[in-house]
Parts: sequence; C-alpha cells; structure tokens
Amino acid sequence: MLMELIRIENLYFSYKTGTQTLLEDISDFALCGIDLKIHSGEWVAIIGANGSGKSTLLKQLNALLLPTKGDVWISGHNTRDITSLRQIRSSVGMVFQVPDTQIITTVVEEEVAFGPENLGVSEKELRERVERALEITGLSPLRNRSPQYLSEGQKQLLAIASILAMNPGCLVLDEATSMLDPRSRENVLSTVRKLHGEGMTVVTATHNMDEAAQAQRIIVLSEGRIEFDAGPTELFSKEKLLSDLKLGLPYPAKIASRLKYLLENDPATLLTINALSDAIVMTLQKRGVKG
Ligand SMILES: Nc1ncnc2c1ncn2[C@@H]1O[C@H](COP(=O)(O)OP(=O)(O)OP(=O)(O)O)[C@@H](O)[C@H]1O
Ligand SMILES: [Mg+2]
Repeated sequence: MLMELIRIENLYFSYKTGTQTLLEDISDFALCGIDLKIHSGEWVAIIGANGSGKSTLLKQLNALLLPTKGDVWISGHNTRDITSLRQIRSSVGMVFQVPDTQIITTVVEEEVAFGPENLGVSEKELRERVERALEITGLSPLRNRSPQYLSEGQKQLLAIASILAMNPGCLVLDEATSMLDPRSRENVLSTVRKLHGEGMTVVTATHNMDEAAQAQRIIVLSEGRIEFDAGPTELFSKEKLLSDLKLGLPYPAKIASRLKYLLENDPATLLTINALSDAIVMTLQKRGVKG
C-alpha cells in the first residue's frame, strides 16, 4: 500500500496577518479550502496561471508558511508543531526558481555538505551523501569550483545536490527550470526522472506543459482552489477546461492536433516526442508508406 506523505485538509492561507479574524472576503486568501493527499513515490505537477497560489501551496509543504486555517501534515507531522520542524524540513527539500538565493558557501563541495553537516550526520555518512549528490547531478567535476562561477543551470543543479544531500523523501521544485537553457533544463529534468525512478516523491510547480506532462498526476490551481486533479492524458483531453483556465497543450499534443486529418490517435495521448513519432510511423506504415 502507498504511504501517505503529504495530507492537506481544508487549507486556507492569507498573507494578511494580524487581522485574521477580519478575513471575511475570500479574495484575501491566496489558498481557499485545499484538500490534498500525496503518496510516497508520486510525481505531482502543479500548474495554473500567475498568482493562482502554486508557490504559496508549495511553501506550506515544508512549513515556510503555515496555514491560516486548516492543517498540513508531512509524514504525520503537523506543520504547526514547532517541535517537528526539523523532521519536516529534512523530509521535504525545496528548490526555488532563482538558485542564488540558496547558495551559502564558497566551494561547490562545501555547499553540498552544508545542510547535512548542520544536521550533525557522521563524517562517513556526510562524505557518502556528498559524493552521491554530486554524482547524480553530474557536478563531481566542478566540486572545487566557487558556486558564483557556475552557470545558472549548474547553480540550479547545485541547489538540487544540496537538497539531495539532506536525504529528503520528497523533492519540491518551484519553477526550478524556468530560467534554464534547453540543455540545462533537460539536465535538471533527467536528474528528477532518475530520482523519481529511484522512488523519490516529486512535486513540481511549472508553467511548462511538456514538463507537467511528465508527471503522473497534474493539479490545476485557479484563484487558490484546486480545479482539477488527475493524470495528464485526462487533463489534456479536456479542451473546455484548458481553454477556460488558459492552459495550453504539450508540444507533441499540439502537433498531433494539427495532424488530426492524418492521425487516428487522441492528441491527449501523444504527450511526448516518442509517442508522437511512433504514432506517425504507425499511421504511415498502415497507409503503405515504407521507411
Ligand atoms: N509575500 C506575499 N505577500 C502578499 N501577497 C503575496 C505574497 N506572495 C504571493 N502573494 C499573493 O498570493 C497569491 C498567490 O501567489 P503565488 O506566488 O502563490 O502564485 P503562483 O501561482 O506561484 O504564481 P506564479 O506563477 O507567478 O509564480 C497572489 O495573489 C499573490 O499576489
Ligand atoms: Mg510561483
């Protein structure tokens, strides 16, 4: 049975503080009545327009923000419980859009070691964790560099390595690839795929539909509420919902819908380049075109 890692019940959050009893107007809330469970090993993408509440929701997952109303539990620990903060922060690692804000030390290797060192792990385990994090992110050759001389993509990989060294059960990425060039973006995404393949829970907020389509489950936020929660194929087949929420299709599905006259497949099932090219080849073969 899948273990419940994150449980959110009737979560309301307002950035307006000090006047919480006066918060009658629903527009005062960045999150309005969120109910959500995420199980261990899932990859969940959170999408929605600017200001829909994605970052606010993600910040609730490691107690950077606390509910105004309702509750958030991480591995059974309520985020309001200050004595659980350390456990919560070490089980949910968060990477933001701008990596500079997270870099603390002057050497890549030390940066990766910084978090677990502060947790007080043994020297042997520290070395192992740092090696593994550098290896999985491909940063080993840059271990002695100063983080300030890394490229943006390498800084983002460093932010991920630093989080991984903390051994979190869940990796939360808030638009972590949005400023990266295509190759760096693919590096980050392939690292995420690798980690997810090894059993890590992944929660990503993104505006990129191709990225969202890689998740097993997509949650659409609109004005602080969950408007949709199911798999990518289901979402991308809902034309009206997509148009109401001003969401696009992943590129392969866009091409597939342009090729409707040729392909029998539902574009919502063609979410990757491989799926699209396989469908085109099959169709051409059926029509007697030889490769
Ligand atoms: N620090 C803050 N103080 C006050 N209001 C905030 C703060 N941060 C966000 N908000 C408001 O909360 C709402 C949700 O913002 P949030 O940053 O969660 O949206 P988002 O979905 O992450 O948007 P984006 O796609 O632009 O990153 C918005 O109305 C925003 O203006
Ligand atoms: Mg955001």
